[in-house]
Amino acid sequence: MTMDTLNITNGDIILEFIYLLSALLFVYGLKLLSSPDSARRGNLWAGAGMIMAMIATMVLHRNGEGEGIKGANLAIILGAIAFGGVIGAVVARRIKMTAMPQLVSFFNATGGAASALVALIEFSNPENQSGLVTLLGLIIGSIAFSGSMIAYGKLNGNVKDLFTKWLTYINLLILAGIVFLLLFILFGHAPAETKQTLVYILLAVSLIYGISFVIPIGGADMPVVISLLNSFTGIAAAMAGFIYQNQAMILGGIFVGAAGMILTLLMCKAMNRSLINVIIGAFGGGGAEGLDREKGIVKEISATDAAVMLNYSSKVVIVPGYGLAVAQAQHICSEMDELLEANGVEVKYAIHPVAGRMPGHMNVLLAEADVPYEKLVEMDEINPDMSKTDVVVVIGANDVVNPAALDDPSSPIYGMPIIRVHEAKNVIVMKRGMGKGYAAIENYLFYNDNTRMFFGSAKDSLQKLVSEIKAL
Ligand code: TAP
Repeated sequence: MTMDTLNITNGDIILEFIYLLSALLFVYGLKLLSSPDSARRGNLWAGAGMIMAMIATMVLHRNGEGEGIKGANLAIILGAIAFGGVIGAVVARRIKMTAMPQLVSFFNATGGAASALVALIEFSNPENQSGLVTLLGLIIGSIAFSGSMIAYGKLNGNVKDLFTKWLTYINLLILAGIVFLLLFILFGHAPAETKQTLVYILLAVSLIYGISFVIPIGGADMPVVISLLNSFTGIAAAMAGFIYQNQAMILGGIFVGAAGMILTLLMCKAMNRSLINVIIGAFGGGGAEGLDREKGIVKEISATDAAVMLNYSSKVVIVPGYGLAVAQAQHICSEMDELLEANGVEVKYAIHPVAGRMPGHMNVLLAEADVPYEKLVEMDEINPDMSKTDVVVVIGANDVVNPAALDDPSSPIYGMPIIRVHEAKNVIVMKRGMGKGYAAIENYLFYNDNTRMFFGSAKDSLQKLVSEIKAL
């Protein structure tokens, strides 16, 4: 059999080759994303792979009759890319670091919606042979869209948690309805118009499921859910790739799906919870308060005393948290670290996997301030050294250092691994007041004998500390 009889042109071969090249760039990009030093380059390489695949498709793609993409369609595609590209670039430039999870959620939603729309249009295309894949793309894409929009609203503070036990049963019922509709559309005997109507109903029910699935999930579990929805978006895109038999789309979707799923499971592990527990259990936000323990006395420390304590220590560990990001205090924090190191103090940073509001939030923040990557130590690695640490400085962190996670079975965060700062010789906590963290629960660390509170916004407090250390 020759290439002519198979109807394969040189253009087709070049196109497939470019798709293969794009896939290699995606893999290379993903590899570089595994370290903050190279992450920016990783994004650029993966983006280059995607642009290459898009241009090659527009230039070289031919349909069954050997015709390329029509001029009018090309104009619409380029117009849409320009429109979306400009909006994306402006939003990404303007967004504050602290609002990044919302943006990720919103991008997830658009990805899910795009895949669902592809599936909706292609279902009625007589050339489309893959009914099951199309409908799965429609369902998963719609759930990713509406679920991500609810996640966006929750992170933005516009949507509240709604947890009632019966919602779990309603969700199971909706899920059963989705499976029934899917099977009936695929294998049931009904006229084509009826099936088309059922596809619209399936779309609506899937959108409702996305909402009812995410709405009861507790605030502190949002990162896990966002990562899970991100994985759904990838799977939906891969389904759309199957519909068009487009290798680049299939591979890109599978990479996003797999990476999202791995991240989801890693985060569950970091919080010591199972995925099922995250999905149907309530945690954070409106969760319970935990044991009502006797509070000690809150002891404050002045900038001068804190500076002396730090400067004459030999081992200091900094625990950054969400407050450091809000105050944008990473640069001044790095300055303090350099001053202490110059005075012979060993300074390390303890990184909790869910500190801040997005995976890797603290790593990105500290990399921005040029803190050497070797100084960042993962929670499991630094915990055994805590008792040998002279001073731990907690900057805008709360939940990730809350000992209730270890010793209070009634606490909503019980079981979540924490950075064991309470085991250090001295603890200085920098925060504005006695405000609670994301999980909205009391932290008894602040009342411990070896804890001193340094009240104020992290940037101002660190500025004062730096001036005092310089004056010593
Ligand atoms: P949180 O528990 O959220 O505590 C942050 C603390 O920072 C607050 O108690 C607040 O106290 C203080 N703060 C706020 N603004 C400040 C400022 N300008 N200067 C100084 N302090 C300030 O932070 P965390 O310990 O990083 O824990 C993260 C929490 O978020 C976890 O519960 C986690 O599960 C959840 N979460 C994580 C993610 C990811 S993936 N990282 C995503 C969503 C949610 P004051 O008001 O008293 O200042």
